[in-house]
Amino acid sequence: MRRKPYVFITRTLPDSTLEPLLDLARISMWEEADKPVPRERLEKEAEEADAILTMVSDPVDRELLEGAPNLRVVSNMGVGYDNIDLQAADEMGIIVCNTPDILTETTADLTFALLLASARRITEASDLVRSGNWREWGPLLMAGHDVYGKTIGIVGMGRIGTGVAKRASGFSMNVLYHNRTRRKETENETGAAYAPLDRLLKESDFVVCLAPLTEETKQMFTYHEFRLMKRSAFFINASRGGLVDERGLVKALEDKQIAGAGLDVFQEEPVDPGHPLLSFPNVTVLPHIGSATVETRKRMAQLACRNIAYVLKGYRPKAVVNR
Ligand code: DGY
Repeated sequence: MRRKPYVFITRTLPDSTLEPLLDLARISMWEEADKPVPRERLEKEAEEADAILTMVSDPVDRELLEGAPNLRVVSNMGVGYDNIDLQAADEMGIIVCNTPDILTETTADLTFALLLASARRITEASDLVRSGNWREWGPLLMAGHDVYGKTIGIVGMGRIGTGVAKRASGFSMNVLYHNRTRRKETENETGAAYAPLDRLLKESDFVVCLAPLTEETKQMFTYHEFRLMKRSAFFINASRGGLVDERGLVKALEDKQIAGAGLDVFQEEPVDPGHPLLSFPNVTVLPHIGSATVETRKRMAQLACRNIAYVLKGYRPKAVVNR
């Protein structure tokens, strides 16, 4: 009798999301929803697995893949897949999938929320109330900056960037974008105008980073880029921490080269509570929650399972990112 394929899932996911795999495979999950699977356990599971369902925080490197002789697919629960060594997967004939589209609007919402929170000092103001330090109404108490009518510069105009551009037009913002390739369709749809990076940095009141992390984009925001920005401008990052030279950002904030930042992502996650970026009141920080709504995370988990089911049945899923 043929052995039933084995699927290992690196976090506990709701049972309802596993449905696509139920008749097809033996499934086991790491017993925690909010703690990463220890490397040793992952390696051990990979030795047997036909498929692994991973989170964007799980490093899937060459060494892990080499120790996984039966592995046919790595299904990442996220649109980003910079945690996976694609070249190694390619060489070993392993399919890598992601979960695009279904998280676009949710992540665009969060990105725009982070922009608004940064401009209007929402977390700082909330902390003032909670700490008991709100003594009286003041004409400039917690005064932030307007968003409507300002210029937003979106770096990385993919699906999420387009979603942010649509939201920005609803706030009567002037929308600039920079991307590897020009997006005429998006320009028509959103009214966004293409700009070279230098111009975008110089003219934007909000620079929003949504480009994927690749060899090309790694550390693309250094002190030099922040210095090109207006002193009144905010830097918002909802993509990956690896796009930013964090020391350069700290220096730009110290030197008041920019007005503040909104960060959903960091170079090292979870970020160390003693990290200098966390010491600035004008930096709004979030724990990488771009796509984190119950509805979207369930859809992502289901799609990640469906991607595996396709491969196990011998089909090619739509969301393959390599090969
Ligand atoms: C993604 O999908 O890549 C997100 O960063 C996860 O929230």
